[in-house]
Amino acid sequence: MLSEKTISIVKSTAPLLAQAGTVVTEHFYNRMFSHNPELQDIFNMANQRSGRQQFALFNALAAYAQHIDNLGVLKEALARINHKHTSMHILPEHYPIVGGHLIGTLKELLPEQFTAEVEYAWREAYALLADICITEEAALYEHSKTKHGGWTGTRKFVIANKCIESELVTSFTLEPVDAKAVITHKPGQYLGIKVKPDDTQYNEIRQYSISQQSNGENYRISVKKELVPGPGIVSNYLHSLDEGGVVQLYPPAGDFFLRDSKKPTVLISAGVGQTPMLAMLQTILQNESNSEIVYLHACENEQQHAFASYLNDLAAVHTSLKHYTWYNQESKSGVFSGLMDISTVANQLPLAKCDFYLCGPTSFMAAIKQQLLALNVDAERIHYEVFGPHQAL
Ligand SMILES: Cc1cc2nc3c(=O)[nH]c(=O)nc-3n(C[C@H](O)[C@H](O)[C@H](O)COP(=O)(O)OP(=O)(O)OC[C@H]3O[C@@H](n4cnc5c(N)ncnc54)[C@H](O)[C@@H]3O)c2cc1C
Ligand code: HEM
Repeated sequence: MLSEKTISIVKSTAPLLAQAGTVVTEHFYNRMFSHNPELQDIFNMANQRSGRQQFALFNALAAYAQHIDNLGVLKEALARINHKHTSMHILPEHYPIVGGHLIGTLKELLPEQFTAEVEYAWREAYALLADICITEEAALYEHSKTKHGGWTGTRKFVIANKCIESELVTSFTLEPVDAKAVITHKPGQYLGIKVKPDDTQYNEIRQYSISQQSNGENYRISVKKELVPGPGIVSNYLHSLDEGGVVQLYPPAGDFFLRDSKKPTVLISAGVGQTPMLAMLQTILQNESNSEIVYLHACENEQQHAFASYLNDLAAVHTSLKHYTWYNQESKSGVFSGLMDISTVANQLPLAKCDFYLCGPTSFMAAIKQQLLALNVDAERIHYEVFGPHQAL
């Protein structure tokens, strides 16, 4: 329990974190990585360079400070962070390290505002948040460890099949080296994958959505080769591996998943954002509930259109499935040209009753969300996944 005084001090100093500019965030991460270089094995150093993750932590702490007397409003945001943390095996002993560097940074850079009294309050408040995270993450680890096929930490998986899906996307079917069962995942969840390419100094961890429904034996991920604006480390490394190559996986995680497989559902994706949608689609179709399902997909052109024939084959068999595609850079019969425009197919959507799942670049998802709101869809029925640090749409 925090005292009234601590709550009041932390709330009133929330702007210190909310308004922390790059000077503060960079100081924090430089401080942490110079004192604790081992953490570079966990953090995505490319995200560090882009600054996206740097602000994610400070923004989360500022939101915590603002709502410290009503933490219920942060439930969803905290769950998302906890899932992300477990996909990288963040442990209780990491929390005091991050907390120590955070307090150290604020003391060093903002000595006038960050007085001894403020420091005391923030130490207490950080310890409470750390406790909440550690407890939630322990429950997730326990689930992954004790369920059939589950495990803790990394487990070795071999690439049993490599399949080119488009010019940029390749799928990898990953089977456990120990040939035992694997824990089921919720359709939409992702895996943490840990690799050590020869030319990198540290281990690299990335998340990849599982692109097939659960089968208890293996997982499939589908990875876009990142070439622009520069070659992505892990995606290119994975593309370079052949069948027989070995990677390490953390158990499935993620709070973006199909809520109700019997409800009418609209799955909307752009580019490699198809991956969680495929797991959801397969799960719904397997259920044979005959509830309506509409699959909307946007990509640049035919060469980049992954899973095109797979979708056609499914739609030929399942009358409950309708699917529509947009090519931004190409005209083709049966495919819309330009950017996705939901109004073109609005009369085909079970708008009043369905759940919407979105995945793709944030600018794409923000535009689609606006289109759905304009069609009177309530925001609570719109769920989305960001392939990077979470952002509001
Ligand atoms: C929940 C979740 C699910 C995901 N699911 C999928 C999925 O199913 N499929 C998928 O393909 N991806 C998915 N991702 C994204 C994935 O985790 C990686 O972020 C992605 O593969 C890029 O990783 P990388 O190591 O190849 O690139 P990084 O090395 O991490 O580089 C990040 C970005 O920086 C760019 N870059 C590299 N060098 C430079 C430079 N010199 N200057 C400027 N920019 C540069 C790269 O092009 C890349 O876009 C998911 C992410 C999350 C969080
Ligand atoms: C209470 C303290 C913490 C808070 C509030 C916090 C918050 C966050 C947030 C908001 C994200 C982004 C989530 C997203 O992808 O949407 C994140 C990701 C992450 N967190 Fe934490 N975190 C905390 C503690 C820690 C600790 C102790 C570690 C381990 C040293 C850690 C390591 C990471 C890593 C590695 C990522 C992924 C980002 C990347 O690799 O770029 N966090 N955290």
